[in-house]
Amino acid sequence: MLLILLLFFASTRALPQGAPTSVCESMLPNHGGGIPPQSGISPYTVIPRRQNGAVLVTIQSGLGIPFQGFMLQGRTPEGDILGEFDVSSTEDGHSIDCSNTGDALTHKSPNSKASLDVVWNPPDGYEGPVIFNATIAQGYDTFWVGVESPQVEISKRSPDDAPPLSSTRRPKTTTPPYFTPQADKESSAEFDQFYDGCAVTKLCFGAPTNCINSKNCKAVVAVTVLGDKYDFELKATSGAAWVGVGLSDDVKMGDDSVIECVKSGNGLKAFMSWTTVKPYAANRLSDPELGIQLLNSSISDDTIYCKVRREAVTNIRGRNFDLVNDKYNLLVAAGNTVTDTSVKFHGIAVLASGEKQFLSDVSALAAASKLLVRIHGSFMVLAWIGTASIGMLLARYYRQTWTGTSLCGKDLWFAWHRMFMVLTWALTMCGFVLIFLELRAWSAENNPHAILGTTTTILCFFQPIAAYFRPHPGTSKRPIFNWLHWFAGNVAHIIAIVTIFFAIRLTKAELPLWMDWILVAYVVVHVVFHLTLSLLGCLSDKRADTRINAFPMKDLNGSGRAPAYIEPPMDEKYSRTRRAILGVYIFLVLLLTIALIVITALAPIEDTWETVRKAVTRSS
Ligand SMILES: *[C@@H]1O[C@H](CO)[C@@H](O)[C@H](O)[C@H]1NC(C)=O
Ligand SMILES: *[C@@H]1O[C@H](CO)[C@@H](O)[C@H](O)[C@H]1NC(C)=O
Repeated sequence: MLLILLLFFASTRALPQGAPTSVCESMLPNHGGGIPPQSGISPYTVIPRRQNGAVLVTIQSGLGIPFQGFMLQGRTPEGDILGEFDVSSTEDGHSIDCSNTGDALTHKSPNSKASLDVVWNPPDGYEGPVIFNATIAQGYDTFWVGVESPQVEISKRSPDDAPPLSSTRRPKTTTPPYFTPQADKESSAEFDQFYDGCAVTKLCFGAPTNCINSKNCKAVVAVTVLGDKYDFELKATSGAAWVGVGLSDDVKMGDDSVIECVKSGNGLKAFMSWTTVKPYAANRLSDPELGIQLLNSSISDDTIYCKVRREAVTNIRGRNFDLVNDKYNLLVAAGNTVTDTSVKFHGIAVLASGEKQFLSDVSALAAASKLLVRIHGSFMVLAWIGTASIGMLLARYYRQTWTGTSLCGKDLWFAWHRMFMVLTWALTMCGFVLIFLELRAWSAENNPHAILGTTTTILCFFQPIAAYFRPHPGTSKRPIFNWLHWFAGNVAHIIAIVTIFFAIRLTKAELPLWMDWILVAYVVVHVVFHLTLSLLGCLSDKRADTRINAFPMKDLNGSGRAPAYIEPPMDEKYSRTRRAILGVYIFLVLLLTIALIVITALAPIEDTWETVRKAVTRSS
């Protein structure tokens, strides 16, 4: 017996499990754990028209109310399902097998449809009556079950057959204007059949975040449940050598049962493996094909695809994986390196679902929150592109500006420098703690981001402590402090910027590579302003003919509090220009910082953008 769970709506609302009903028989969608069908008269009609021994079946509403989902069958008056739908005659449906191949038709996607035309062929040699029985869903919780067509007599070549199909097909002009199936089909990705039926007949989950909607996942899994058969389709692009799906109790790698689809020779193989955290690895089971069977696979261009059937219950390392009765998190991952015995790092994509779900529940699976990762990124960008840049520029070039004014007994430049650097310090420490809370281990990614970031954080950590215990101005150790303080700060800053460049390449961060250009823009701005201010410093040196320091390197006798100069402190020449330059610098740095934070916080930004664009298009 084939059990088909038919669900009609790409909804994020959770659907309860319950034993899958044989919807072939009852045609009752299991929406919201038993939302009952509408009891009133359906606004939709099912109209059969005989055509050369076949039947053209039309579902439509006399009131022009569009519908989203349907299931259609040809039946004898006794209720036996018969015949076969010609799926090439409609764009909106795909067939499923109830008693025989292709004897039921259901929607491909929950798009609004004004009407449906499909050709149905009776079994060879069949003569007798047929009734078309349909379930039609206007929306997730509004549907009619058992909408029957008038009975039609099937006979071989009835004399009252109408002329060929094409001429009787209702002209498209009767289609209400809101019926725009072409609207979503502007890119070739829209035709990727892998995504047909996602959230309708199969559970789909892919990385990066939200890629199911835009149909551009780098790694994606779809689970179709037919009775006790669990079919996993796995696909990865970007030249992947392997793609895997893990069944997990949590949102992290470790103790997960994994199905791998792995390039092997010229083909693909499916294996079972088990993940560990220390070390990060997916270890193949001693019986690598335990409970699975590769049904189909293909390699094309940069894409690999496997269809694997997995037994409903498997015992792995003493643990029972019961797909019928237990809920799981899905982990999807892909990478481009494999060895003979295992897959290597998931360098192409990796994502975990946020909540456990029954695999027979096709409702959309949200990704695990990457909030901590996003906050970490935003904090670090704000700290090192934003506050550190400004604070360090102030210390380097603005000691002779605002010399008359002070804040809390400190020179203005020093007060601001301290404030910006304390902010940098606090943001860096928070960001550092957050990322370890999220990962709970050293990143396994083959990327120097972690080591560089840690170096910066350590340097940053000691800066204010050293500054607090700095020697008094005028003492012999003061120049050494000044130099070390300057050196450590600049090294930390440079490493931080490099670390951010590497962050863009982290799989987990899901950042676009073009973000590099914003960072490059920042580096250019930073260098240009430093050069300009240095030049200005030289000029004012000449003018004043006094070697007032513009460079901290020369400020070996300078102090953080009051400069130890013989002359009374006075604003340097070009002070007004320098203040204007500072204003422009702060403005530009802020602009770049905001851009980088937006991209980091909304990552993957391209998909977020795509989702927004579609929502706007749809609503307008
Ligand atoms: C059509 O489906 C409904 C609901 O399942 C059922 O009550 C009815 O008997 C079906 N009609 C036929 C002809 O099978
Ligand atoms: C495997 O996939 C190909 C291409 O999608 C399809 O034509 C073929 O029927 C499939 N085979 C099986 C056994 O599903």
